[in-house]
Amino acid sequence: MRAASADASRTISINKSVSTSLQEIQAPVRERLSAVSAEMAAIVSSELPLVGTVSSHLLAMRGKMFRPTLLLLASETAGTPERKAVSLAASLELIHLATLVHDDAVDHSVLRRGMPTVNSLFSHQISVIMGDFLYATALTHLVEQGDIEALRALTRASTEMTLGEMRQLGVSEPLRFSEAEYFDLIRSKTASLMRTALELGALSGARQYMEALGRYGENLGMAFQIVDDLIDYTEQKETTGKPSGLDLREHKVTLPLIFALREMSPASSREVTALFANNDASDESIARVVRIVSECGGFEYARQRGEEFAERASEALRDLPDTVARRSLNASISYVMERHA
Ligand code: IPE
Ligand code: IPE
Ligand code: MG
Ligand code: MG
Repeated sequence: MRAASADASRTISINKSVSTSLQEIQAPVRERLSAVSAEMAAIVSSELPLVGTVSSHLLAMRGKMFRPTLLLLASETAGTPERKAVSLAASLELIHLATLVHDDAVDHSVLRRGMPTVNSLFSHQISVIMGDFLYATALTHLVEQGDIEALRALTRASTEMTLGEMRQLGVSEPLRFSEAEYFDLIRSKTASLMRTALELGALSGARQYMEALGRYGENLGMAFQIVDDLIDYTEQKETTGKPSGLDLREHKVTLPLIFALREMSPASSREVTALFANNDASDESIARVVRIVSECGGFEYARQRGEEFAERASEALRDLPDTVARRSLNASISYVMERHA
């Protein structure tokens, strides 16, 4: 990879041979991450029994807390972070959770974080209302902080994500979905919130690095979703805690297939078309299409495009001071590219 700076001490490279664990990345912000979880629980507490039951389920199925981690790390890049970082991270993670609750209902998914989704355990209706509740309480919490800049950033990201999910639903001819449309879609539905995580971190003590941190977040988010879409093809639900092959089952065309469609034989193309015409595809037909995508080089291609975004994320970090936080942000890039869940 290209040297990011003439100053060797500032040169950041994605070391593909080193496996970076989330635990290591989170180590510098471990205590504040626990405070984020506690604050999330306080924000969603409600006297209504059904809300309490669903909230308990959701908070028990703890995710990676990747976005709060990024926010807290960003807030440390210029020295001592402001206290508000924890509150902002709690609102941000609740917005993320709201989108997952809605996304699982939209995707008819039964598994999330290794546990039954709200739509499968409770009902579709409860998912809709609970997602709304999470959005509303997260934003109310921000209003209570009186932080208009943070509120502006997070409401903008929420709108953008909603438009991204809507854009996905609006795809009328999935097999004609282009690479450019795919990148626009994932920029809205995933990269916008990652960017916002970093910007909220910058607002909490590192304003001078807002532009670089935002750029890092957006490119990391692009890589994150490309890898997520690869994982949907390549990993088992026991590893990811989410159903595998769900994107094909739901007729969602992602980067591996977009590339493979350009390469495949007419017979393979007929097989893919048949799968997309069937609303109840068998596991065998999904497995056959996965093999076609693999044999056409779809996985390598998607990984390579993901690496390009990862490299841009890395370049965005190069002018940040060399701190523990920057090292963890840098390690997060390898983590995103190497993750299996
Ligand atoms: C899932 O995000 C949604 C995507 C953008 C792919 P994460 O993989 O960060 O989900 P959790 O929070 O760890 O479950
Ligand atoms: C990302 O898309 C979802 C959001 C940004 C809300 P996916 O549908 O691929 O996410 P997973 O795979 O269900 O986590
Ligand atoms: Mg989904
Ligand atoms: Mg996915």
